[in-house]
Amino acid sequence: MASSGATAENLSKLRINGSPKGYWAASAPNLQKNLSILSSDQIELAKMLLDEGQSHIFVHWLEPGVDDEEKKGFFDQVARLNSSYPGGLVSYIRNARNLLADSKAGKNPFDGFTPSVPSGEVLNFGDDNFVMFEEAGIREARNAAFVLVAGGLGERLGYKGIKLALPSESTTGTCFLQHYVESILALQDASCRLVEGQCQTQIPLVIMTSDDTHARTLDLLESNAYFGMKPTQVKLLKQEKVACLDDNDARLAVDLQYKYKIQTKPHGHGDVHSLLYSSGLLKLWHDAGLKWVLFFQDTNALLFKAIPASLGVSSTKKYHVNSLAVPRKAKEAIGGITKLTHADGRTMVINVEYNQLDPLLRATGYPEGDVNCETGFSPFPGNINQLILELDSYINEVAKTRGAITEFVNPKYKDSSRTSFKSSTRLECMMQDYPKTLPPSARVGFTVMDIWLAYAPVKNNPEDAAKVPKGNPYHSATSGEMAIYRANSLIFRKVGVQVADPVRQVFNGQEVEVWPRIAWNPKWAMTFSDVKRKVGGSCSISQRSTMVVKGRNVSFEGLSLDGALVINLVEDAEVKVSGCVQNKGWTLEPVDYKDSSYSEEVRMRGFRIEKADQSEMNYPEPGKFCFKS
Ligand code: UTP
Repeated sequence: MASSGATAENLSKLRINGSPKGYWAASAPNLQKNLSILSSDQIELAKMLLDEGQSHIFVHWLEPGVDDEEKKGFFDQVARLNSSYPGGLVSYIRNARNLLADSKAGKNPFDGFTPSVPSGEVLNFGDDNFVMFEEAGIREARNAAFVLVAGGLGERLGYKGIKLALPSESTTGTCFLQHYVESILALQDASCRLVEGQCQTQIPLVIMTSDDTHARTLDLLESNAYFGMKPTQVKLLKQEKVACLDDNDARLAVDLQYKYKIQTKPHGHGDVHSLLYSSGLLKLWHDAGLKWVLFFQDTNALLFKAIPASLGVSSTKKYHVNSLAVPRKAKEAIGGITKLTHADGRTMVINVEYNQLDPLLRATGYPEGDVNCETGFSPFPGNINQLILELDSYINEVAKTRGAITEFVNPKYKDSSRTSFKSSTRLECMMQDYPKTLPPSARVGFTVMDIWLAYAPVKNNPEDAAKVPKGNPYHSATSGEMAIYRANSLIFRKVGVQVADPVRQVFNGQEVEVWPRIAWNPKWAMTFSDVKRKVGGSCSISQRSTMVVKGRNVSFEGLSLDGALVINLVEDAEVKVSGCVQNKGWTLEPVDYKDSSYSEEVRMRGFRIEKADQSEMNYPEPGKFCFKS
């Protein structure tokens, strides 16, 4: 942006370019008196705002006691808002006007569309088909890039830190970011092993941050040596917020306290597409021969158990878009993946929110609405917002749209006239709406996996989680942690380990199943076949047991565990564990979330681990070892 003030030449140019002498006086007299302090770029921005009906912004601009720098600062903000939105602020304001008019008229975005069940792959954990897809996925992993959307405020969780810094489970205290990075590194390693000769692949990881999360995400990475990733492998892209709107004319909302600032709010995770496009990363990846981009969210520790098979589905079925999904009961409060066909021939496969799906079905010839089919589940699988996009077709599409995603607006109206809002609103967009603009030839599918394997996000604070109606998921730190133990226990059962049944316990008012606390780091096992290869004989694990595996080459042969077992080993060590391990073990002691004598991380999950006794095996040197007790 030019730094000089408005010269006579600039001003006369503006006049020639459609701004006659009386333009400023008529549209913003208060601003007119300030023109001399503004650069020519700033004057252009001012003109754009006025042309878009935003003169109210400048009403206060002659108040005494305001420094010129504050006024210039205002235009710095406008320049940022302008450059970070595809098509600039003009597009933003015009899109907002259209969407606000549709919202006022109560227009249904699905008018004219008929829903049907799209095609996709339903997987059964551990069967031959699943194993085949997992193998294909591991092969493809070295051609993938991962994109983590982590710019959300996390207001519902109310954690003081960023969500990525939250421990995913308490036996190791591994935070979500560490778990994600280690999972990607384990995939990289497993995929490279399938290549003959040297494989130098470093799977890229992009993290989308926002002003609310950026500095703390960077700090978390830097203070932990990027959890083992090369710093050059990780790239942070910061999303900007968008301007708030005060009314149906899309008048920008001026900050209530400080009049030289426009109110802003998050635009939603859909920003990730325009950021990837504008950063040039997609082209870079394409030129490097990558084929897949995998999008995921900040607090789902189970996800990487589902990634290899889902990526295998994408590559085998040549899906341009693959949405990861879970079985969904009819009317369950989770969006359904749906094919929509318009009377004019348009089709799309997208997420339809549960409260829209049922009425849409009823209105289009299905009088019963969303009902379970013979499987006992709705034929419309539940969207978990993890996407796998094929890079070639993705690049082609975002080159057309600049990564702009179909937006929506959700104003809270003061009354039924729908003319004024309770508070300012803004346009929003969602990552999963990407397929909305795809041509009918696009191959858009889904992969359904058991919920216990794939999905346990941490979104709700303990108080709200305890109020969740019975039968619905808590999505709390408590349930997220218990889901990890359950998944690992069920995987162990599937390979033949006798894992005891869980007990039911209440933490922070939430009744959960407590399975043995089995935790392993991703390099120990990424796939079902990995676990199968490493666990043999007739092993058994009692309900009160804890097993923590930190290392790669550990195998179990006929182990009987009743207590706590912790195994640490370096990369080149190999250990076979067998026999009977029995000790007092680790217990879960309830903690009330209001009890301030504990850390926030402990309080929010409602228990702490009391380590009474354990068998700990440490192998700090390379070599082959046997442990038999
Ligand atoms: P959530 O639905 O969990 O929303 O976002 P949130 O904003 O993080 O939390 P609440 O609603 O304030 O409680 C799903 C994913 O999208 C990311 C989040 O970080 C999370 O991984 N997200 C959300 C963004 O990256 N940017 C956004 O503007 C919103």
